[in-house]
Order: sequence, then structure tokens, then C-alpha cells
Amino acid sequence: MPASVLVAYATRHGSTQEVAEAVAATLREGRLEVDLRTAREVRSLEGYSAVVLGTAIYMFRLHKDARRFLTRHREALSKRLVAIFAMGPFNNDEKEWQGVRAQLDKELAMFPWLTPVAQEVFGGKFDPAKLRFPYNLVPYLKRLPASDIRDWNATRAWARSVAERLESP
Ligand SMILES: Cc1cc2nc3c(=O)[nH]c(=O)nc-3n(C[C@H](O)[C@H](O)[C@H](O)COP(=O)(O)O)c2cc1C
Repeated sequence: MPASVLVAYATRHGSTQEVAEAVAATLREGRLEVDLRTAREVRSLEGYSAVVLGTAIYMFRLHKDARRFLTRHREALSKRLVAIFAMGPFNNDEKEWQGVRAQLDKELAMFPWLTPVAQEVFGGKFDPAKLRFPYNLVPYLKRLPASDIRDWNATRAWARSVAERLESP
């Protein structure tokens, strides 16, 4: 029986969803059965042997749907293989990436029972025209240029490494 994997994602503007779709497509190339759902709509992890959770980071915190997902499914997640990716820096400044990795570590430390088999930060997408309240009132954010530094090759390479881990647990 192929392992069954849930890819769940928490997004506000859709860029994390698109990365989750790429991760799911790559996992499907192997021997895995994959479902793709928003973290918010998942009621049960029954039937899945592994979970990939993708989340945007907003204001140094995991998207609230990701935090709720981890809290709600704690018991089931502690018995399954879990991989996590988070988005994401706007530019390729190494210091910013280190900062975001540290943010992710700090956020995941709030779930000490969680021991991901893989954890990654991906570059994100930013569009000042799509800022919503209250962020559309922050002059610094409004002045930032639009950017999209999502790296699809890096995403697929990460997903392949996760697939290898999940195919031979
Ligand atoms: C108001 C705002 C705050 C953000 N805060 C962070 C942050 O603290 N850390 C980070 O890595 N990215 C941060 N980001 C970047 C988002 O995570 C990135 O744009 C991501 O691609 C958004 O995902 P989504 O399109 O799925 O919502 C922020 C973006 C916005 C608009």
C-alpha cells in the first residue's frame, strides 16, 4: 500500500497554496498518495501516515490556521511523520533568511511535542497593492516593491527529499 500523505496549507494571499500545490505534485510523482487541503478545513488525520504542513509567516508568527492545526491535531500528529515549510523572506539577503529560520524555530518551539522530519523556509511573494487592514496603513510596507522570490526548483528538490523520507519510514 502506498503511504498516504496530507499536504495542508495556511495562506492569506495564495502564494503558500501555490507552493503547497507544487509540493503535492512532486510527492505524487513517487509512490505516495497525496491529498491537498487548507489547514482550516481538515477535521481528521485518520488514514494519513504523514503530513506536510505549509504556512505563511505573518509578523513573526505562523499563520493562525497553522497554529490551530498543530493544536487541534496534536495527538494525531505526534504519531505521524510531519514535515513543515514556511514562507517567507521577500529578498535574498542571507541575514533575513537566517532571521526567518530563527522565527520558524521559535514558533515551532511552542509545540515541543512536534519533531518534524524536515523543516524548510521558502522565499515568499509580496504585493503592496494587496495589503489588507491594518498592514495597508503601514507606510514602510506600502513603499516596499512587489516581489516574488519563490524558487520552484528548490521547492521541488525539498519535496523530493521529503518523499524519500516518507517512502521509507
Ligand atoms: C504584513 C506582512 C507581514 C509579514 N511578516 C512576515 C514575517 O514576519 N516573516 C516572514 O518570513 N515573512 C513575512 N511576510 C511575508 C509573507 O510570509 C510572504 O509574503 C508569503 O509569501 C505570504 O504567503 P501567502 O500569500 O500564502 O499569504 C509578511 C508579509 C506581510 C504582507
